[in-house]
Amino acid sequence: MANVFSKKPIVLTKGKGAVVWDVNGKEYVDCSTSYGVALLGHCHPKVVAAIRAQVGQLITCHGCYYNDKRAEFVDKLVHITPPGLDKVFLSNSGAESVECAIKLARKYSGKPEIIALMGAFHGKTMGALSATWDKKYREPFMPLVPEIKHVAPDNTDKIREAISEKTAAVLMEPIRGEGGVRIPPDGYLQKVREICDEQKVLLIFDEVQTSFGRTGKLFGCQNWGVTPDVMCLAKPFAGGLPIGITVAEENVMGAFKVGEHSTTFSGSPLVCAAGCAAVDALVEENLTKRAAELGAYFKGELERLQAKHRIVKEVRGLGLMLGMELRYDVLNVILKAAAKGVLVLDAGRTVVRLLPPLVIRKEQVDRVVATLDEVLGDEENERAGSSSVPN
Ligand SMILES: Cc1ncc(COP(=O)(O)O)c(C=O)c1O
Repeated sequence: MANVFSKKPIVLTKGKGAVVWDVNGKEYVDCSTSYGVALLGHCHPKVVAAIRAQVGQLITCHGCYYNDKRAEFVDKLVHITPPGLDKVFLSNSGAESVECAIKLARKYSGKPEIIALMGAFHGKTMGALSATWDKKYREPFMPLVPEIKHVAPDNTDKIREAISEKTAAVLMEPIRGEGGVRIPPDGYLQKVREICDEQKVLLIFDEVQTSFGRTGKLFGCQNWGVTPDVMCLAKPFAGGLPIGITVAEENVMGAFKVGEHSTTFSGSPLVCAAGCAAVDALVEENLTKRAAELGAYFKGELERLQAKHRIVKEVRGLGLMLGMELRYDVLNVILKAAAKGVLVLDAGRTVVRLLPPLVIRKEQVDRVVATLDEVLGDEENERAGSSSVPN
């Protein structure tokens, strides 16, 4: 395989709910969930049953034919998307959902420019990469797609100043995930919506990481009562199978004419069967509410660790999308937590990111917190020994 992943020394072979096991039978509580994919937990029984039922029926069906499972999935999806966002393009990944949104914005407006945020992450295909901020992802691949510019986040004046007669859309994550789990200031998204309306530019929310109940609302933007014109979705929507979804208002999606955008795998019956089961499980099991409640508890416990460990600078998050910023590089903490049976992610160099599944149990949260407590304590002692804890 291409050497592009920052590998951890673990071979995972099995998963159930919030737990995964490695090849030696060692158990881990999984707060990494394949970077937010296994939001229903691993091998959710409804998803497994739906895949089993569909796999002997029809696996692939090109978008040029109609298909029952695809129709059922799209119907379920538009029942939960914010009102007005009911035209759907199906693809295979988060980056593809963003590619579609960028093309759509250009086609709809007839203008080239996309305004994105410094600190944003939108994926690594050329269009999505051009909207991603981090130079370590971008610089080796210059020149990128032109007319995509970045402005400082959390400042509506910067958005207003950046919009010109060339601007097609403003693209942003409601909460910046990879950028460090950054919650926008109160009123920010509402104001951006107002500016986009005034200036007649589209507002695109990349909800690849913030949707599907993760933040305690079905879609992250609903925490602020703001609806975009186009929304990008992916990760958990097919219960673990690859999916990307771009949803838009009818008049916006209508800008695409036949042949202007497509992908061979768009809306395969197998993925859509899994997607139907995933959306059903999310709604029937009331997991969004669970994310809000358990997320508040989890965040409170992390704040307790912040009060105890000087190396913890800040705890941020909403629902079960949580970040703990340390005063130094987090790699050791991540590796040590894994060695003790807890999988967590980074978000940039100094943030431990926790993306647990919505089905995680309270006692599993307690185990994660106890493990982080130990690991932070160890780190603090080691650094005190070498007197390298910064102030
Ligand atoms: C906000 C956001 N957008 C887009 C992507 C890209 O998704 P994918 O890796 O499925 O292409 C990610 C991936 O983490 C993401 O967090």
